[in-house]
Amino acid sequence: MYKVKTRLFMTDPLNPGPELDEPARLLRDGGLVAFPTETVYGLGAAARDARAIHRMYEAKGRPADNPTIVHVSSPGDVEPLVQQVKPVHARLIERFWPGPLTLIFNRSSRVPPVVSSGLDTVAVRMPRHRVALELIARASVPVAAPSANLSGRPSPTTARHVLDDLDGRIDAVVDGGPAGVGVESTVLDLTGQVPVILRPGGVTREALQEFLGEVEVAPGILEGGAGYWGVPASPGMKYRHYAPRAELWLVEGPREAQVARIKKILRDLHAKGLKVGVLAHRETAHSYDAFQVVTMGSWDRPDEVASQLFAALRQIDASCPDMIVAEGMVTSGMGLAVMNRLRKAATRRCNAGASRVVLLVCTGNTCRSSMAQVILERILQERGLAGYTLVSAGVSAFDGTPATAGAVSAVAEMGLDLSGHRARRLQWDMVDWADLIITMTAEQRDRVLQQFPEARGKTHVLREYVGLSGDVQDPWSSDAETYRRTAQEIRSALERLVDILAGETGPGG
Ligand code: TXA
Ligand code: MG
Repeated sequence: MYKVKTRLFMTDPLNPGPELDEPARLLRDGGLVAFPTETVYGLGAAARDARAIHRMYEAKGRPADNPTIVHVSSPGDVEPLVQQVKPVHARLIERFWPGPLTLIFNRSSRVPPVVSSGLDTVAVRMPRHRVALELIARASVPVAAPSANLSGRPSPTTARHVLDDLDGRIDAVVDGGPAGVGVESTVLDLTGQVPVILRPGGVTREALQEFLGEVEVAPGILEGGAGYWGVPASPGMKYRHYAPRAELWLVEGPREAQVARIKKILRDLHAKGLKVGVLAHRETAHSYDAFQVVTMGSWDRPDEVASQLFAALRQIDASCPDMIVAEGMVTSGMGLAVMNRLRKAATRRCNAGASRVVLLVCTGNTCRSSMAQVILERILQERGLAGYTLVSAGVSAFDGTPATAGAVSAVAEMGLDLSGHRARRLQWDMVDWADLIITMTAEQRDRVLQQFPEARGKTHVLREYVGLSGDVQDPWSSDAETYRRTAQEIRSALERLVDILAGETGPGG
């Protein structure tokens, strides 16, 4: 990495002027210039200058397969960048530009492929921030600009954040005060039949829905780097984004349940001697006795939370806690963008709202307990019983191992899907949250209690608990028929378990 002197240019956010001539010249000449937009600070490079784009990727440490957004200062500048401005584009531009809405077009050959990581499409937006508009206009070139952070870190909402990440790696920063919206633009794909939100952001899903009638949200928007208890939701989602350096646990669910849960987490982690930072809403921040509590706006104002989120993540990270615990929020309005970012930043998540957590345990978490999880889910659904969170784990599982083919096809015959399952090893926090721990065999129960003596009283062997006897035998490496029988055996035992859960019969009878 080359080392450059990063120059700082101050400007009036409401009335930028000739002080932008020099950074504009730098941009035009292939330099890297960070500047404020209404969402977050962007790292600008001339969009038609492939060398400048390469430097920009290098400065951010950005993977080459993540395309960037081209910024323009007037709707008229879109045409040369794209193959066609469709009527739907034109309507959206008219309604939402300038503003935090990025539109995907088919790319014109005049835009170098590297801008779009080789895709045939190009993302374009016209920001609302005066400094951004003035800078781009003065540079008189379209400007490719990803968020001006090191790749993987929270996006910057002040010039200070930019310098913290990129000082010495870029040519200049234009300081125009804090960015307002606080999360990035909404990215809307219009290349298919139905508009799809690829990234929720400053323009809400509700606003787009109202304007367009039909909008889809891309799958995975509310999945994160981690599923409940920290297992990657899917292999492609294993990278954390927007992430502080410390582990981040995200607690979700109703407000009171979250507070109670976080207090308990704090007690447990203090007992382990860990310094914990809490990211909390204004109304509940006082509830926590922690190493550091940083507030991020009001429970009732997702837009306020959005505007403070990244700064809060950076602030808490700067005090180097061993762990961060964050309160979650609703996913409506700007909450969708906030929860998308928080889930991607999280290493673990838990739902404090679920009234009962049932943890199903076997050895490898690739056959019996994983089958039991989806089967139990189905039975609860059939009986209309809500309020359960189901988790499965193995006492000696290898994290990330998929379910065995036999298990996948045995439950597929019941109309259930285990293809996305990934094994996880039993850990103290799962044991801690669980209201009921069900093992497949007596030996597994003994191993659970050996490792976690505190689980005594809530750990039971499946068949014994429901008034049958014996273990659910391991079908591993046997034929399809054995798997089928095992699935059936699990199903009938779980039917009885649900009777017990629903209060129709007592345990063991
Ligand atoms: O608010 C924002 O959009 C900020 C400011 C600086 O304008 N920029 C920003 O850029 O957030 P960046 O690079 O951090 O995020 C760009 C997003 C990524 O999610 C990327 O995958 C998506 O836009 N994107 C860019 N070009 C695309 C394309 N051709 N097709 C699909 N997604 C694209
Ligand atoms: Mg970014």
